[in-house]
Amino acid sequence: MHPNQYILSYTMNSDCHFMNLNKLLLIFVLFCALFSCTRDQLDMSATDMDLENTISRVSPSGNLSSFTLPETGDYSQFMQDPRNPMTPEKVALGKLLFYETGLATDAIKDIGKETYSCSSCHVPDKGFMPGRVQGIADGGIGFGNSGEGRSRFHLYDEEELDVQGARPLSLLNVGFVTNTSWSGMFGAGNVNQGTEDKWKGATEVNQLGYFGLESQNIEGLHLHRMDASRENLERLGYESMYDNAFPNIPKHERYSEITTSFAISAYLRTLVPNEAPFQNWLRGDMTAMSEEEKRGAILFFSKAGCVNCHQGPGLNNQKFYALGVKDLYETGEAFATGPNDIRNLGRGGFTEKTEDMFKFKVPQIYNMKNANHYFHGSSKKSLKEVVEYFNDGLKENANVPSSQISGFFHPLNLTPEEVNDLTSFLEHGLYDPNLNRYIPDEVLSGNCFPNNDVLSRVQMGCE
Ligand code: HEC
Ligand code: HEC
Repeated sequence: MHPNQYILSYTMNSDCHFMNLNKLLLIFVLFCALFSCTRDQLDMSATDMDLENTISRVSPSGNLSSFTLPETGDYSQFMQDPRNPMTPEKVALGKLLFYETGLATDAIKDIGKETYSCSSCHVPDKGFMPGRVQGIADGGIGFGNSGEGRSRFHLYDEEELDVQGARPLSLLNVGFVTNTSWSGMFGAGNVNQGTEDKWKGATEVNQLGYFGLESQNIEGLHLHRMDASRENLERLGYESMYDNAFPNIPKHERYSEITTSFAISAYLRTLVPNEAPFQNWLRGDMTAMSEEEKRGAILFFSKAGCVNCHQGPGLNNQKFYALGVKDLYETGEAFATGPNDIRNLGRGGFTEKTEDMFKFKVPQIYNMKNANHYFHGSSKKSLKEVVEYFNDGLKENANVPSSQISGFFHPLNLTPEEVNDLTSFLEHGLYDPNLNRYIPDEVLSGNCFPNNDVLSRVQMGCE
């Protein structure tokens, strides 16, 4: 029960005949509602109070609510395309389609058919990232424990692989993203207003006028060689789920790439890491984080300046900054990318404006711990290295002119202990240990997922 509700019901049930006391209690409840003293002040240590004050100072609402993630199932809290409002039926359908290897029938070789899914590159155990430098869908083989063991299948040439020149973004907290991809190129509204003349090729889909998620996921089905035709969807057994999810769309338009994207988008918006210790702390459980993590959180919201860019409940932002990190080709481990890859230019690769060059969208940073590859070019292998990079404040990519680098990126002068505290906050405070709730037990094809190639099947125990 919510603490305020407790006080209310207590007030009402108590056999108290002193009207004034009741009035006093009511005033107290109103006071609490206004100043959100729902947290038991007695349980709070000095560090807790320091953290609460620190967050409140930088919070647009003046309290903790600006960083609190929605409760599961509270769809009203997400930005949604007015043409694709979230419903439980769409979410349930999208939760299967995202993992459905049966969609992968447009593989360029027969041997690749039905062997991969969206989650081949967005693996839940890796925070919906691939767990390696680069995602590989068609043309990949293997899974390892949770994605790190995938590699090129020898029957595919490098140019035949479905790979991209940047590390896949996490899909947690995409419900707070209006324009998707590192460059924000998808989505007709918000930051893409005024970019209409660039909507061709991959971003021609923006002309349909949808939000980022809806747009990107239509294009994503093509890019990742998936077949969402009525014929394939019926073959896999999804017809009645589409009927439940899209009763108002005429039957001849009901089973399509657009509705498939709508369902997947609705599902992706539900991916909130709201069981992370930091979230439990925000909701009033003072024991959810260790002292070290709390000290790290204080740094995040003050001296270390992370909150200048990582904002709101998703700790992300629809703004673009250059941090001067290395590009993916420089790892020497990535396929089909190089110095001329347009993705190296970030937002500038899409808008072609000088001021946007080398600037990348501020990503969410929950459940980063196991991904082991950080930044768009996977140049860092641990969160401690990431924190040290911010602490040093020195660009590592010679191609990025200093004039482009964000003014927020500069030496932070954190002590070694402070670096450890901040790392600990990222590793544990921002880690939801129970993302399994977002994974289905099975998909309708009955195929193995996220991958369904021979080696993955053995490694995942599907045989
Ligand atoms: C081959 C690997 C791969 C596969 C398969 C894949 N993705 Fe991605 N995904 C990526 C990469 C790489 C990015 C970042 C691309 C960029 O920004 O240039 C990305 C980004 C995204 C984003 C943007 C997130 C954000 O915050 O902006 C969404 C949404 C997304 N993918 C959804 C999907 C869906 C849905 C599918 C299945 C239809 C899918 N992905 C399949 C590699 C993949
Ligand atoms: C100037 C704005 C800015 C500031 C300040 C900032 N970040 Fe970021 N952060 C970004 C951007 C932009 C990226 C993606 C950069 C790229 O890959 O090119 C990023 C990436 C990250 C990543 C990796 C995410 C991923 O998907 O690989 C982590 C972790 C992170 N930041 C944590 C922090 C921490 C901790 C701090 C404070 C020390 C901080 N950030 C300060 C803008 C910022």
